[in-house]
Amino acid sequence: MFSEMQVIDPRYGYVDEVVDPSLDLMEEILRFKQDKNVLLLAHYYQEPAIQDVADYVGDSLGLSRQAADTEAEIILFAGVHFMAETAKILNPSKTVLLPDLNAGCSLADACPADAFARFKEKHPDHVVISYINCSAETKAQSDIICTSSNAEHIVRQIDEDQPIIFAPDRNLGAYLIKQTGRDMVLWDGVCIVHETFSEQKLVRLKMRHPGALVLAHPECEESILRHADYIGSTSGIRAFAVNSPEQSFIVATEEGILYQMQKDCPGKTFIPAPPESGCLCSQCPHMRLNTLEKIYLCLKHEAPEITMSEETRIKALRPIERMLEMSVAVV
Ligand code: 13P
Ligand code: SF4
Repeated sequence: MFSEMQVIDPRYGYVDEVVDPSLDLMEEILRFKQDKNVLLLAHYYQEPAIQDVADYVGDSLGLSRQAADTEAEIILFAGVHFMAETAKILNPSKTVLLPDLNAGCSLADACPADAFARFKEKHPDHVVISYINCSAETKAQSDIICTSSNAEHIVRQIDEDQPIIFAPDRNLGAYLIKQTGRDMVLWDGVCIVHETFSEQKLVRLKMRHPGALVLAHPECEESILRHADYIGSTSGIRAFAVNSPEQSFIVATEEGILYQMQKDCPGKTFIPAPPESGCLCSQCPHMRLNTLEKIYLCLKHEAPEITMSEETRIKALRPIERMLEMSVAVV
């Protein structure tokens, strides 16, 4: 067996090895999962083949709950770095693998721990609620973590007279202020995928599909959310479409979610919301770094592995545990 040092080229952040093209990668991954007692977690923003080979596909809250509950020896996270870090924080004795260490997140990148510490100093006495899309070091400076599924539920549990810092997503923060009436201090971060949707193109699309409901993720800007018939996490969007009597939907989030929605409701029509330019901007460039080949190599070599200092892990664990405790009622 190769050691991590041998197989991970630091210039790349993933196992750089030629894969035999005759291999059935799905079969190989299933075999590794069984032989090595692996839990393969995938976010909805992964390509369809990865969603099909995963043990669980879900949103950030569902994935965290799965990571917290597993008996597996290895967790492979087909998602981005902050998600795999969260799994490691919850499972210090398990091996947590991320197929490509470059799979970051614009929100996490927008909130470096040292700048966040200075920001907090300017707002003493504030409770810090951080969106799960942040680094372990930023989580370690937070009081409570939240996801888009439970953010409103958690904010509503904070005493009315308690001032709040919300980081790092200013769009989710602004949405929460509107929903709860709480006056929160916001960190100025955005998701590069959700900020690209075009209001003008969305309005034109709605005119072409007058019966379609607009389902939007709260990471979108207000100019998009104001046209939404439903606003929620990826799991919320999926559940809304399943339960709705309507037949067509415009979906303003990363388009990977459309795969499960179409599987749930083969007879319904799902239309991705249009980004500003004609590019693939509604695919997350970080999420899409994961491929079946990288997952296969990652399981073969058990690398790259997520590591962090025990001091950071312990500090980051408490706000994640508080999130899980405060959102038991959120499905
Ligand atoms: P959820 O799946 O928790 O709604 O989060 C969306 C997202 O952008 C994850 O990076
Ligand atoms: Fe981060 Fe946005 Fe990609 Fe989610 S979709 S991982 S929030 S950059």
